Amino acid sequence: MKGLVLSGGKGSRLRPLTYTRAKQLVPIANKPVLFYGIEALAAAGIREIGIVVGDTHEEIRKAVGNGERWNVEVTYIEQDAPRGLAHAVLISEEFIGHEPFVMYLGDNLLNKGIAPFVQEFVNTSPAAQILLTRVPDPQMFGVAELEAGKVVRLVEKPKEPQSDLALVGVYMFSPEVFESVKQIRPSFRNELEITDAIQNLIDRGFVVRPHLVEGWWKDTGKLDDMLEANRLILDTLDRRLEGTIDSHSRVEGKVVIEAGAQLTDSVVRGPAIIGANAKIEHAYIGPFTSIMNNVEIRGSEIEHSIVLEGSILSDLANRVIDSLIGRNVRIIRQPIKPSAYRFMLGDNSEVGIRW
Ligand code: TTP
Repeated sequence: MKGLVLSGGKGSRLRPLTYTRAKQLVPIANKPVLFYGIEALAAAGIREIGIVVGDTHEEIRKAVGNGERWNVEVTYIEQDAPRGLAHAVLISEEFIGHEPFVMYLGDNLLNKGIAPFVQEFVNTSPAAQILLTRVPDPQMFGVAELEAGKVVRLVEKPKEPQSDLALVGVYMFSPEVFESVKQIRPSFRNELEITDAIQNLIDRGFVVRPHLVEGWWKDTGKLDDMLEANRLILDTLDRRLEGTIDSHSRVEGKVVIEAGAQLTDSVVRGPAIIGANAKIEHAYIGPFTSIMNNVEIRGSEIEHSIVLEGSILSDLANRVIDSLIGRNVRIIRQPIKPSAYRFMLGDNSEVGIRW
């Protein structure tokens, strides 16, 4: 059994962050989201993992390396353009060979891992096994219709959904899927759709098994979901304080403070994580916040947010909430007249001013 992690794509819903960084490397609780997927595959006993990469391949290679950190062997598979999930399968045939495999979307998170699903797939050996979860808004997802315990139809973002069972970003396939990805044609958005490939398996008479996911599942492809994933993961951390905390500071609840971080006259209320060498001065870090390495928060309050490496928040009058702040961003209040907003923002940036 091999693993295939999809780590290319456009990432258009996470611009402007994805202009300069692969969305799969945005950290959730200070760890790249992609690493959770690799760990899940490794924990399911999978040792050979192919990673499909696109424009951001260099950054992904640098972050993941050859996989020895997880005791797996990583092979990179280059996709010339984001031509769809089924296209990623198509170009991976040589790597997969004649084995069954697990396909894992590199920006997805599953809290209970995948080991039991993989075991069930091995025991029952259908042509494909898909993971499903009930959602309140199935028209936003690929949706499966079941009959007698089998998948009979898959519809991508149905206008009138016949079920509330959405496809989760983990799929298991036998090599039979390679014939399907060759038979299907690009969709209206000009991608080879994995739902069409699975429907093709069903139409050719193969068994596609559903498996309902019990724990939570998150696709971190857009801001709100990323913040929610961050919330869910932070909640699972154990308290660990390694940085320097002065006697005027308070650290409440599940909080990780990495070595080299400095807390001065500040309150951190967990669940939260403060990365190595971050400086927190006269500040409040509220629940569900991840502060990456080398960030400075001075005279400001922040909660339910993610701040990436090297950014500075200084003397802000209002609390920052529900935010994803990229690398080396500076948000600084200065006592200069006239009082005004002054921005230098990249394309597709978003600033919310609440009053
Ligand atoms: P998506 O999030 O569905 O697509 P996307 O990355 O193009 O994002 P957006 O819709 O915001 O523009 O992709 C799911 C995962 O699969 C993600 O990790 C990227 C990866 N992927 C590929 O590797 N190749 C592809 O051709 C596509 C479409 C996605």
